[in-house]
Amino acid sequence: MNHIIEAQQFDQKFVNKIFSIAGNLEKKTETPLKGKIMASLFYEPSTRTRFSFESAMLRLGGSIITTENAKEFSSVAKGETLEDSIRVIDNYADVIILRHNEEGASRRAASVSDVPIVNAGDGTGQHPTQALLDLYTIKRELGVIDGIRIALIGDLKHGRTIHSLAYLLGKYKNIKIYFVSIKTLKVGDDIKRYLIKHGVVFEEIENLDSIIGHVDVLYQTRIQKERFKTNKEYKKCRSCYRIDSTLVEKMKQKSIIMHPLPRVDEILFEVDSSPKAAYFRQAHYGLFIRMALLKYLLE
Ligand code: CP
Repeated sequence: MNHIIEAQQFDQKFVNKIFSIAGNLEKKTETPLKGKIMASLFYEPSTRTRFSFESAMLRLGGSIITTENAKEFSSVAKGETLEDSIRVIDNYADVIILRHNEEGASRRAASVSDVPIVNAGDGTGQHPTQALLDLYTIKRELGVIDGIRIALIGDLKHGRTIHSLAYLLGKYKNIKIYFVSIKTLKVGDDIKRYLIKHGVVFEEIENLDSIIGHVDVLYQTRIQKERFKTNKEYKKCRSCYRIDSTLVEKMKQKSIIMHPLPRVDEILFEVDSSPKAAYFRQAHYGLFIRMALLKYLLE
């Protein structure tokens, strides 16, 4: 596997291998990537993905070259195409971590790249490394993946983490997915077709209360203001689902709340002290998953 583009490309053998490497790295850090260079090329803002990949590379003994706002600080500002930028950065780095505003950008980059391209989020498309760390979080927190009931909540139309996680869950047994959203932010038909093909049971609902006591994972997402055409349209959707302490009390005893972050106001701060609030632990696990991916791709 040279490039990491979409969650459908992972099989359980690959996922288990990455989880095994990540588990070992949680116990003991190694520095096998001395002499290797990672380029992080980000056309969209990021806190977790860029910092965790960069931290992962440094912890593994490698080095980084980086632009946090490629639209402004790289030659894209002068009109350079993504393909030309990739052809050039190929000469300077052993792996390129790419976040882009356009769906399909990582696939385009991979088509001209001699070094591995890792999709770190492409517009409203996918975020496959987030799906891996989300699944690792579920495994670490609940001990199992097969058989879980998970509610994916919020902006299912634009949320690339939702898209990748739904595709990845399609590889596991007896999963039940509840897609919880208002009508205008429903999950796309391509994902539903894929889940039907893979025998994954799912329901689309609007009322979170009706399933809150049954799910093992509550996966909340931000309503993505930057993807709406007008502020008025965004404002109509922004307060649809809010997780507060009263709601958390209705959850199963052994269940968790996840969120890819950043959050705005869709999980109240009062929830953070609950043992069920797994979202900051989720970001922590992300470091080890990204270390494992870099080790796998570069060693
Ligand atoms: N979860 C995630 O992709 O966060 P960032 O946008 O901060 O990288």
